Amino acid sequence: MKKVAVIGGGTMGNGICHIFAMNGYDVNLVETKKEFAERALNTIDKNLTRMVNKEKISEVDKTATLERIQTHLDIADGVRDVDLVVEAVPEVFDLKKKIFTEIDKNAPDHAILASNTSSISITKLAAVTKRPEKFIGMHFFNPVPVMKLVEVINGLETADEVTEVIMETSKKLGKVPVPANDSPGFVSNRVLMPMINEAIFCVYEGVAEPEHVDEVMKLGMAHPMGPLRLADFIGLDVCLDILNVLYDGFKDPKYRPAPLLVKMVDAGKLGNKTGEGFFKY
Ligand code: 3HC
Repeated sequence: MKKVAVIGGGTMGNGICHIFAMNGYDVNLVETKKEFAERALNTIDKNLTRMVNKEKISEVDKTATLERIQTHLDIADGVRDVDLVVEAVPEVFDLKKKIFTEIDKNAPDHAILASNTSSISITKLAAVTKRPEKFIGMHFFNPVPVMKLVEVINGLETADEVTEVIMETSKKLGKVPVPANDSPGFVSNRVLMPMINEAIFCVYEGVAEPEHVDEVMKLGMAHPMGPLRLADFIGLDVCLDILNVLYDGFKDPKYRPAPLLVKMVDAGKLGNKTGEGFFKY
């Protein structure tokens, strides 16, 4: 495993690109527009500078990391000569389906295809390709350069050797891979999202103000950030999408998204990225 393509340079994509390049992999970053690719590179540059300032890496490491990243505007070009493709585009099944069809057509036969999806079925995404045995979930956490976990999700047909390669690759990135089988929300979001949803219900029902809900969880449960600030950080639209996947997948009303969450997404208050969610930024 030497060369990797990362599809999408948003919050997760640029973080994934950052850690592969920092750990010696050549990376093709694929974006749809030149300005999106430039924005991703600027974010990676800024986060590498933060690591230089904290003396976690040297200035030489930073330059070498940036030199390992090539940007592409075309999927076919970006995946042609790679050993692994990691997809990190928005959580819309039809979009991922279109992208994986294109990747499958153009990536070398030996290449493993991974999705960073936070909840869409790995088995269903794998079925879009002609290599479901080489398809796997590689779920990173935000901020990717900091969070240790990679949730490695096996689809119904994922081959054991592919799981082993991805577990080893994750370790080479300095991460701790934890395996899970394909199921709505996997482990991470099946546990996290109901907590966030319940925090939103507390605000909706007037049990406590957002800052007080967060204080309870930070001071009483030692969470690094409260569930509502975390929801803003993840993106309220992303939280709603994941809750809907859980709700549809299990057909269980316990995953019903809080009406206040739906209303905030409708109003365009999506959290940090729009400047306002449960808090102002
Ligand atoms: N790149 C590189 N380094 C970064 C960084 C980035 N993007 N963001 C933060 N850091 C580093 C800082 O430099 C700092 O380094 P230090 O320990 O050497 O000083 C360290 O991370 C902590 O950052 P800060 O001092 O700026 O701030 P905090 O101490 O408040 O930590 C936080 C920020 C790491 C975000 C912390 O609040 C946290 O862990 N929050 C919870 C995050 C979380 O739960 N993420 C998972 C979300 S769920 C998800 O992603 C899955 C999806 O499917 C929904």
